[in-house]
Amino acid sequence: MQISQLIKLLPKAELHLHIEGTLEPELMFELAQRNNIQLPYANIEEVRKSYEFHDLQSFLDVYYLGASVLIKKQDFFDLTYAYLEKANEDGIKHVEIFFDPQTHTQRGVSFEDIITGIVEALNKAKDEFAISSFLIMSFLRHLSEEDAFEVLEQAKPFYNNIKAIGLDSAEIGNPPEKFKNVFKKAIDLGFLTVAHAGEEGPAENIRNSLDLLNVKRIDHGVNCVTDESLLQELIKQKTPLTVCPLSNVKLKVFKHMSEHNIRDLYLKGVCVTINSDDPSYFGGYLADNYIECQKHLNFSFLELVQIAKNSFQASFLTEEEKEIRCKEIDKFC
Ligand code: HPA
Ligand code: ZN
Repeated sequence: MQISQLIKLLPKAELHLHIEGTLEPELMFELAQRNNIQLPYANIEEVRKSYEFHDLQSFLDVYYLGASVLIKKQDFFDLTYAYLEKANEDGIKHVEIFFDPQTHTQRGVSFEDIITGIVEALNKAKDEFAISSFLIMSFLRHLSEEDAFEVLEQAKPFYNNIKAIGLDSAEIGNPPEKFKNVFKKAIDLGFLTVAHAGEEGPAENIRNSLDLLNVKRIDHGVNCVTDESLLQELIKQKTPLTVCPLSNVKLKVFKHMSEHNIRDLYLKGVCVTINSDDPSYFGGYLADNYIECQKHLNFSFLELVQIAKNSFQASFLTEEEKEIRCKEIDKFC
């Protein structure tokens, strides 16, 4: 069997995935039509052509435009279910999904429609594909901490559906300390926390996310290599990094996959995981990210098996569930 087929069959967890980033151009067009929204693209080829990014902000502009077609509960259900069908084909057994309510509530979409659409699709996928899932509600860091407090309040009737709180969007100019108080409140309410840090921004953002936001893992985190003491701390504390290789190449964090530092981090002993971030925009879903790492960074299949185990170990599943999933991987090998 080819290694790409083995990678697809390998049980995996996806820990860094923005649901809005799974919107394929075909569904974008369908929803635009359904909701009477005028897109600035004549056809699907034009949409794909616009997916040339030079940094995070140039991507976010296109991504928020795409997300504007998501208006009704059914749209969020369709988006999430379409992703879970792909996740099932990709060998994903557990997924922790980011959703950004502010992207939509700013445009007048109801919080209830967003979350219930997503949750109903997650429940259907659990029944049909046996994929378990958690939701991570992410604050947009280019907005204010006050705005984040407001979302936390809006989410109140749905706290049972949300496992953790995250922080995403433009990292440069929006350091984690801006959200210190709202993260403290979220932790007091019983949420786990994660944050995007060290993607385009400095290693200092990783340290401050750990120290000031008390995050359990770092999303991206690849810039940790510029601070040796931080790197040693990540290794010692076994802090997971949810690395997104294709995303990093698309957004020019690394020039080419062969220059990505994920294998160096892995060999140094960092708990790295492989994830897809915004797969519709970055040219590949989870298995594609594993396959690209294997092709360009000389990861052996057994090293990828270890990364798949890391993905369950770094998840928010219970210790017992993690053990069951890792045993399934051992059986597979
Ligand atoms: N970084 C920050 N914010 C995001 C990303 C990302 O890669 N994707 C969607 N929102
Ligand atoms: Zn991300």
